[in-house]
Amino acid sequence: MSPQSPAPDPPGFLQRIVNSIFPGRLRAPADRQGYRHFFNTLLLHFRPRTVPERTLRFTLTWGLGGMALVLVLLLLGTGVLLKFAYQPFPDKAYESILSIQNDFAFGQLIRNVHHWSANALLVMVFVHFLRVFFTGAFHGPRQFNWIIGMALFLAVLLSNLTGYLLPWDQLAFWAITICTGMLEYVPGVGPALQRLIQGGSEFGPATLSNFYAIHTAVLPAALLSILPFHLWRVRKAGGLVIPRSPEEDERVASVSVASIPNLILREGVVALVLIAFILVVSTLFDAPLGVSANPGLSPNPTKAPWYFMGFQELLLHFHPLFSFVAIPVLLAIGLVALPYFNYPSGSTGVWFVSFKGRRMAAVSAGAAMIATPLAVLADEHFIELASWMAPLPAAVSGGLIPFGLILAGIAGFSLLLKKKYRPDRSEAVQMIFVLLLTAFLVLTMTGIFFRGEGMKLVWPGHTIPPMP
Ligand code: HEM
Ligand code: HEM
Repeated sequence: MSPQSPAPDPPGFLQRIVNSIFPGRLRAPADRQGYRHFFNTLLLHFRPRTVPERTLRFTLTWGLGGMALVLVLLLLGTGVLLKFAYQPFPDKAYESILSIQNDFAFGQLIRNVHHWSANALLVMVFVHFLRVFFTGAFHGPRQFNWIIGMALFLAVLLSNLTGYLLPWDQLAFWAITICTGMLEYVPGVGPALQRLIQGGSEFGPATLSNFYAIHTAVLPAALLSILPFHLWRVRKAGGLVIPRSPEEDERVASVSVASIPNLILREGVVALVLIAFILVVSTLFDAPLGVSANPGLSPNPTKAPWYFMGFQELLLHFHPLFSFVAIPVLLAIGLVALPYFNYPSGSTGVWFVSFKGRRMAAVSAGAAMIATPLAVLADEHFIELASWMAPLPAAVSGGLIPFGLILAGIAGFSLLLKKKYRPDRSEAVQMIFVLLLTAFLVLTMTGIFFRGEGMKLVWPGHTIPPMP
């Protein structure tokens, strides 16, 4: 400093506070590169340094896993905010939701974001699960990540189910009453499990407080511990599957490119577009809230939440032991076992396995789309219990026998396709998967749109005239 230059002003009060927190400059202000380097190093703790260029194609992942992650974060954020005002007691819960909507700044918006993110998350996780299946991304070395994914799926389903009860309106009360009532049919442990979840023999205050604790503590903790494991396994498997077309060689070469900016920029754009979309939807459409729960008056029809409508529809056709226990358990076992079959190497990364696999999948989907509504209609209008079945236990006449017939139908159809196409194991498994998936989707649609008063089949929008 020259002797003539004035002494610098001492720092102001606020500047002194800032200086006490950041004693020295991290980087010279002109050194933008320095800031960038610091930020990039931080990002690279979470993301790989380089990624195969081919896995950047949007049509590989459609950004679904990443979008599911963004939705989980939105749910955690808005959930914590809701917790400040929500009261988990039957005489206060509904009022507290009204108060969130009317008395708190942005309360309605926060509730809407939580509601729409929760529903979008279900769809997103389901579609992510389909994309993983149809690109063969569950084969080794990713088998166990498929299992971790199933655990995440369960956590997301249960989060939605437990959250559904919290507004304590008519819809919530009766939908969840149906779901917990079903537990009775689980052989052996069912009634004990039902008492545990309900917090006693009755559905009431203890149920609400159990659901609240599970929803706001147990499940978020489970999600937060499983999710990093899921993402870490993607890294451990050497990144995502490398997409290729059926004619390309399995060891297709892919140039690696730097994650920053190639991957980070794409992820950032997808996340911001999704958040903007959720905000627009939440501004335009309010989360539904019916009238306050009335345990003495059940609505007609009483429907489960939409994501369980497929199972509620099954319940109309099979004994609960089959619709609520045997079929879901068999499906779950099948899904967990799926990655461990011995698949021919070479289908990983190819959408729908092969050209033949695509054709077979289309035929299976078409068959299920025709057969399922026909079976529903036939059961509703034409099939009467044969007289010889009358003395049999209901679980046999309404469960084992129809279930056996359906299995025989599926086996016959598979044999026909096998004879015609001579598929390998990947193509055959995909065919069965598509058949069951399409049937389940048709049942879900039937339950949501085509069931009216008394759970009778109706045409959407058509009201049934009152009984004379
Ligand atoms: C994957 C995570 C989550 C999902 C899928 C989810 C789902 C839901 C759903 C479907 C509702 C009913 C909303 C409605 O339609 O009214 C709800 C309500 C609620 N959730 Fe969550 N939630 C999640 C995480 C959380 C977390 C982490 C918290 C708090 C720590 C939380 C706190 C609440 C509260 C207080 C309500 C009652 C308020 C209301 O219904 O508007 N949620 N949640
Ligand atoms: C909350 C739920 C979930 C989140 C947040 C999530 C997140 C992610 C993300 C970010 C990726 C990498 C990018 C991508 O593939 O889109 C990924 C990959 C993967 N996920 Fe998930 N996932 C979830 C549920 C599931 C489910 C239900 C399954 C299947 C049962 C699953 C199986 C996999 C597999 C096998 C991969 C590796 C795919 C590959 O290498 O190409 N995930 N997940």
